[in-house]
Amino acid sequence: MTKTYALIGDPIDHSFSPALHNTAFLFLGLDCTYIAYRIPKGELEYGVESLKKINISGFNVTIPHKVDMMKFLDDSDTECKLVGATNTIVNENGHLKGYNTDVDGFLDPIKKRNINTKDSDVLLIGAGGAARATIAGFAKEKVRRITITNRTRERAEELIRFAQGLGLESNYLEPQSAGEVTDRYKFVVNATSVGLKGIGCPISTRNITKETIVYDIVYVPVETPLIEQSKNQGATIIYGWEMLLAQAMKSFEIWTGKPAPYEAMKLTLLGRF
Ligand SMILES: NC(=O)c1ccc[n+]([C@@H]2O[C@H](COP(=O)([O-])OP(=O)(O)OC[C@H]3O[C@@H](n4cnc5c(N)ncnc54)[C@H](OP(=O)(O)O)[C@@H]3O)[C@@H](O)[C@H]2O)c1
Repeated sequence: MTKTYALIGDPIDHSFSPALHNTAFLFLGLDCTYIAYRIPKGELEYGVESLKKINISGFNVTIPHKVDMMKFLDDSDTECKLVGATNTIVNENGHLKGYNTDVDGFLDPIKKRNINTKDSDVLLIGAGGAARATIAGFAKEKVRRITITNRTRERAEELIRFAQGLGLESNYLEPQSAGEVTDRYKFVVNATSVGLKGIGCPISTRNITKETIVYDIVYVPVETPLIEQSKNQGATIIYGWEMLLAQAMKSFEIWTGKPAPYEAMKLTLLGRF
């Protein structure tokens, strides 16, 4: 029988996930299909019940449900518990197990480049859900310090406590000052939505050097203003699409138990930009 998978969230109209997963199913000849199911905020419980009724095999979770979905899980993996959010669910006869593939998906492009993260210093821009997953990832890789800069200081303070709880040194920096000191950090990571649709650069890139690794998790457009400007300064660049692809591949592998077809999924993704 055909297995059905889904993405739930709101908005989901422009999601790349259905194309990515359907490509992978087709490429491996699996009798599976993936749909997008819009569930507005406040309707998650009803939405999850509906998915159980159609015996969904698994689903991805995106904004605004990644945290709330934790309440509906029967079981969850270490990363979910660490971050307090889930993005991948497996349904076995109504028993829901949650995973969080954002954490390892974020780390994957760093590992692919064989970059040594141990004891390094990170400047993290942003303090939302994605920033939390990046902190959990860097904590796994035993970086030394994460400096957080964010428009709203209180949200950054919350993440500083989170990072310290994971054994990292962590401190706050005003966004206006962050651009002055980028040369003191091995990694500069943008986890805000600034740069989306090519609008805005979250910090000044004046002091980014060729030693800096600039990782922008925004993936539309591929070349955000931060990436473009950092490239001009000679920095090593990690693109948001690489994380997007890696987290999708990890979901696919959890669901099917098979290695996800990297090239086919990458072509599908990049063809859509
Ligand atoms: N590549 C991937 O696989 C991947 C995965 C997840 C997310 N993302 C991307 O990461 C971004 C953040 O996602 P999220 O889930 O963390 O969102 P979120 O929880 O809503 O957090 C948004 C962050 O962006 C900041 N921000 C928004 N507008 C701003 C502005 N005009 N000026 C300065 N800061 C601003 C917020 O600052 P305040 O705290 O001050 O509001 C906050 O730090 C999105 O663009 C999303 O598409 C990419």
